[in-house]
Amino acid sequence: MKALVLSGGSGTRLRPITHTSPKQLVPVANKPVLYYVLEDIARSGITEVGIVVGVGHSADEIQNAVGDGFAFGLRVTYLPQMAPLGLAHAVLIARDYLGDDDFVMYLGDNFVLGGIAEPVRGFRADRPDAHILLTRVPDPTAFGVAELDRHGRVVGLEEKPKQPRSDMALVGVYLFTPAVHEAVRAIEPSWRGELEITHAIQWLIDSGHDVRSTVITGYWKDTGNVPDMLELNRSVLEGIEPRTEGSVDADSQVIGRVRIEADAEVHGSRIVGPAVIGVGAVIRDSYVGPYTSISDNCRIDDTEIEFSIVLRDAHLYGLRRVRDSLIGRSATVTSMPRIPSSNRLVLGDHSEVQISS
Ligand code: DAU
Repeated sequence: MKALVLSGGSGTRLRPITHTSPKQLVPVANKPVLYYVLEDIARSGITEVGIVVGVGHSADEIQNAVGDGFAFGLRVTYLPQMAPLGLAHAVLIARDYLGDDDFVMYLGDNFVLGGIAEPVRGFRADRPDAHILLTRVPDPTAFGVAELDRHGRVVGLEEKPKQPRSDMALVGVYLFTPAVHEAVRAIEPSWRGELEITHAIQWLIDSGHDVRSTVITGYWKDTGNVPDMLELNRSVLEGIEPRTEGSVDADSQVIGRVRIEADAEVHGSRIVGPAVIGVGAVIRDSYVGPYTSISDNCRIDDTEIEFSIVLRDAHLYGLRRVRDSLIGRSATVTSMPRIPSSNRLVLGDHSEVQISS
């Protein structure tokens, strides 16, 4: 059995971060989302992984971050997709790589806390034509949605329906036999111009194939937007092992579940976990509050920050108080003198900023 990991796409809801980096590499507790996916696949006993990537800079970044997969105990093959034409299109272009093997398709921006080992084991044993994972969500309009009959069988699927027939969303993990290849060839693009995997699974159902589902109750997140990213960061930080490899001076306080990585320095500051401070980061005269991930080589000076993710090499200086924020690589955020009252901004395209007035 192989795995097909989807790491192309455009990541519009995470702009401007995704103008310069693929969304699958945005770190959660200082580790890219994609690494959690690959570790999960390795735990399920699969070693052959095809990663669908876009073309250009984003693809290069993913290849640099994952390499040949050896670090994860995997053998990785990259499958370039010329344009993000849909999840079923990704299966189409992976046809030669997948051959006649069964495979698990795993969306590279999804996080499944309970992991996929159990569904993979069940699929290997029963081998239906396809097996999907479902979970209840408060807003089904943002997902693929499944309708089940009273025996729990999948009878209908819709992609991002305006009027959902259930609250059962499709989780971004799908188990397929080679029967899916005929389905992805048979369907037409949706109104948004994409070949939807949801439609391919519906095609399998309509043509009498055995499509099964499992409802998962554990924690699952699609990290497509900033609030979901911050929420996932919160959840993962709650489970980190506290440890201090860097240095904390006598004027600082570290409270709760906090990981301070090698060569990080904390001076005259208060860090309240759950939080992680990356390799080589320097925190000075600052407060780093709960649910915050500060990546490698950041500098946080005279600042209060909580419930946020700060990517590597960013510098925050003199800020009161940063919350619910995702700050990009090498970004600089500083304060202005109180008088005259003004704000000076140099923002990337599609940035979103809220300033307290
Ligand atoms: O997260 C679960 C949802 O994922 C499902 O409920 C939906 O049925 C399914 O369509 C999908 O919806 P999204 O709108 O969230 O998909 P997104 O465009 O974010 O793409 C998911 C992943 O696949 C992401 O890592 C990017 C990658 N991708 C996407 C497209 C459209 C590709 O590699 N190639 C593509 O052509």
